[in-house]
Amino acid sequence: MIATGTKPEGARSEQEASRRVRSMFGRVARRYDFANHLLSANVDRYWRNRAVARVRDILDRPGARVLDLACGTGDLLIALERAAGRRLIGGDFCHPMLTGAQTKLRRQGLGSVLIESDALSLPFPDASLDLITIAFGYRNLANYRAGLTEMRRVLRPGGALAILEFTQPPNAAFAALYNWYSRTILPAIGGAISGVPEAYKYLPESVRRFPGAPELAGAMRECGFDPVEWEYLTFGIAAPHVGRVASTA
Ligand SMILES: C[S@@+](CC[C@H](N)C(=O)[O-])C[C@H]1O[C@@H](n2cnc3c(N)ncnc32)[C@H](O)[C@@H]1O
Repeated sequence: MIATGTKPEGARSEQEASRRVRSMFGRVARRYDFANHLLSANVDRYWRNRAVARVRDILDRPGARVLDLACGTGDLLIALERAAGRRLIGGDFCHPMLTGAQTKLRRQGLGSVLIESDALSLPFPDASLDLITIAFGYRNLANYRAGLTEMRRVLRPGGALAILEFTQPPNAAFAALYNWYSRTILPAIGGAISGVPEAYKYLPESVRRFPGAPELAGAMRECGFDPVEWEYLTFGIAAPHVGRVASTA
């Protein structure tokens, strides 16, 4: 089984881990988009578009209910709303990140609805959604299995969960280079831009502790998703995983 959940430095319980994650994103919210696009040289936009393409079949279903969880400032939610051509739902437990999302949605004339909610306790009945997406949020959950179980609970038969996350590049030489970048350059630039150095020290540490892509696929299967399909993107820095819920479940 995969690691229990994220453990920001000093957190001694799941509740404390969650609180620290929420507080950290609250402090970086204002500079989040700028730091994100700069540190990834805009490749993050391509990763989100790949994730959208992988769930296109559900977005095209008339009336499908879609939740972009841990939506942050809304980049994936915006790409999903544009692809679906209708309003969706975005959820996050960090108010300042949602404020950023609301501003961007309004500015772009989009109408998705935002809810403040914890991924580990979703305010939806069983089997009430067709698609949940979560980009770079799952790694931050205080309990990975509880997150998968909760997302599975609210998905309808025939639905799907798409997780886009950082992962461990499979090529050892590239992984060494990438790890050097993420432990030196990334915290220096991210810390300077955001004014919150610990957030950009936490980032590579949380990726290092996070299971590799095959392990995540295995955990999704254990929690009731089948089939689970995934691919490495950009030499294996990131990987979208899509797990399906059987139509007769
Ligand atoms: C790295 S940001 C990703 C935001 C956005 N999905 C994106 O692709 O840019 C991670 C987000 O996950 C949210 N998050 C972390 N744990 C969460 C939880 N337990 N419930 C809801 N949101 C959570 C944070 O508040 C933050 O906005």
